[in-house]
Amino acid sequence: MSTPAALSFDPALLSALSGARLVAALTGAGISAESGISTFRDPDGLWARFDPHELATPSAFARDPKRVWDWYAWRRERVAAAQPNAGHLALAQLERRVPAFALITQNVDGLHQRAGSRIVIELHGNITRVKCSREGTTVERWDETAPGVPRCPVCGALLRPDVVWFEEPLPESALAAAQHAAERCDVMLVVGTSAEVYPAAALPASAKATGATVVEINPNSTPLSGEADFVLAGPAGQVLPALVARIRGPR
Ligand code: OAD
Repeated sequence: MSTPAALSFDPALLSALSGARLVAALTGAGISAESGISTFRDPDGLWARFDPHELATPSAFARDPKRVWDWYAWRRERVAAAQPNAGHLALAQLERRVPAFALITQNVDGLHQRAGSRIVIELHGNITRVKCSREGTTVERWDETAPGVPRCPVCGALLRPDVVWFEEPLPESALAAAQHAAERCDVMLVVGTSAEVYPAAALPASAKATGATVVEINPNSTPLSGEADFVLAGPAGQVLPALVARIRGPR
């Protein structure tokens, strides 16, 4: 069932959402596109302009830590200058309208929290945090103007962004919380993700296998589109506010 961005919704979808006890949302880079943050795999995305093997792996950091640090510092600046958009705000509102809500994100930009979402499961870390590359401890302050890569004030190892790189495992507790929500939710909204990167991409199938209604919100089709119960083919910043406005519940 496919809905173009005509913004009229199938009554069965509205009824599933209105009757849901637990709603889960899985978000990806597409939800932040309307905030001016680049996605990864779109034609103008980051992975069309940069090689992830040179920038987003532990071996890239070992080879050229300064290059990796500077790339993330550039992205951190872009994120700091961006604002949450109507899609982020709609999900924050939805959290307050349904009995229980779990927001699972692959994004590292912190825009869900800035939009007011209270509980956010971050599968791939957060670019605004920095950690010690040896001990993994979060470091609150560092000197961005220092030559080279800043060092851990405790052990002297290089600092690195607190994000998950290719070849690294996801944070165990975040993945467990996401899996738990996927298996218990009544509805899962899958927003702005190419559904190509695992293990996040397996969560909609877990939700569906345990009986949830899976709803994809994305202007483009993905490997999930054929499996989803409903496809809302439009930008998240338009589709989500219209959808959330149709959900009964406390404001
Ligand atoms: P991708 O760049 O792979 O996919 C972005 C998706 O957003 C695409 O399917 C677009 O069609 C869709 N999109 C674009 N604009 C949109 C809009 N306005 N509203 C809704 N959808 C829109 O990003 P992710 O799926 O998040 O991982 O990528 C997953 C992971 O791959 C990222 O977390 C990152 C990357 O490598 C790491 O860095 C570990």
